[in-house]
Amino acid sequence: MAIPTLTLNNGVTMPALGFGVFQSAPEETAAAVTTALETGYRHIDTAAAYGNEREVGEAIRAFGLPRDEVFVETKVWISDYGFDQTLHAFEKSAGKLGLDQIDLLILHQPLPSDFEKTVAAYRALERLLADGKVRAIGVSNFMPEHLERFLPQVEVTPAVNQIEIHPYFQQGELLEYNTQRGILNQAWSPIGGITFYPGWGDDSRRSTLQDPVINEIAKAVGKTPAQVMLRWHLQQDRQVIPKSVTPQRIRENFDVFDVELTDHQLERIDALDTGVRGGPEPASITLETANFPIPEA
Ligand SMILES: NC(=O)c1ccc[n+]([C@@H]2O[C@H](COP(=O)([O-])OP(=O)(O)OC[C@H]3O[C@@H](n4cnc5c(N)ncnc54)[C@H](OP(=O)(O)O)[C@@H]3O)[C@@H](O)[C@H]2O)c1
Repeated sequence: MAIPTLTLNNGVTMPALGFGVFQSAPEETAAAVTTALETGYRHIDTAAAYGNEREVGEAIRAFGLPRDEVFVETKVWISDYGFDQTLHAFEKSAGKLGLDQIDLLILHQPLPSDFEKTVAAYRALERLLADGKVRAIGVSNFMPEHLERFLPQVEVTPAVNQIEIHPYFQQGELLEYNTQRGILNQAWSPIGGITFYPGWGDDSRRSTLQDPVINEIAKAVGKTPAQVMLRWHLQQDRQVIPKSVTPQRIRENFDVFDVELTDHQLERIDALDTGVRGGPEPASITLETANFPIPEA
């Protein structure tokens, strides 16, 4: 099954549906990525901070596809921000992944407490792009106020902004801001994982998977709640990267190309927005709170 693609603002194409590996333990990551590749996924989203780039690279290599048939995305953590540090962060990630070139390299977070470092890190991404070490560059968890400060100081408009988007936290203003500037919206926690991560939060949390409206639509279209949420994103041109280490769910999340939600169904999901962020406020991530080192390759 050919996956629909999205075209980034520099002409590079990427699959509309990819595979996430946040919280996939290193020892289960290679098997999960192998199942994903067997299923047909051709985009893997990892990060230096996830501690599993090596296993992602091993699984991709062992699977043996031509290099240009797998789109690999990873992220630079804040402890590696700064021009020279970020150039070196590329070497660390590429070394662990076992790749000469990374398809999409993004800044994991803005660092509002040291914005100059954020800009310097992105300038390094621009250099890597110019040198052909990466095919596209972008950002993650940037809010409009960060982009307002950031865009006038950089040359290359980010190709993507990877942000928390699911039915309970939709960030409509940010989506619009990105779209107007040619920045692709890439949805993390696309099926609302952050609303039900095992071991996180308290019992009062509402899980998007249990949502009555999503379940009703799922029943009506003969799909699962996760598949309905993925359709909701895809039909609004957002790139999605659902994560699972469970083979049956990995396959389920890929089986979303034979159904179309109606406008009314999309609107009903739009109406579920709570405006409440599941993840950390971007400004709460600082070199004081999250300055853990990324190991060498
Ligand atoms: N840039 C950032 O700051 C940031 C932050 C968070 C995530 N991300 C990226 O986005 C990816 C996806 O986000 P996410 O991992 O937060 O959440 P998600 O993909 O929305 O949900 C993942 C959770 O849902 C479960 N699951 C997966 N498919 C399911 C299905 N069909 N039915 C029921 N449960 C299912 C998984 O469990 P099992 O694995 O046990 O099956 C896991 O607990 C991450 O892996 C990562 O690549 C980026």
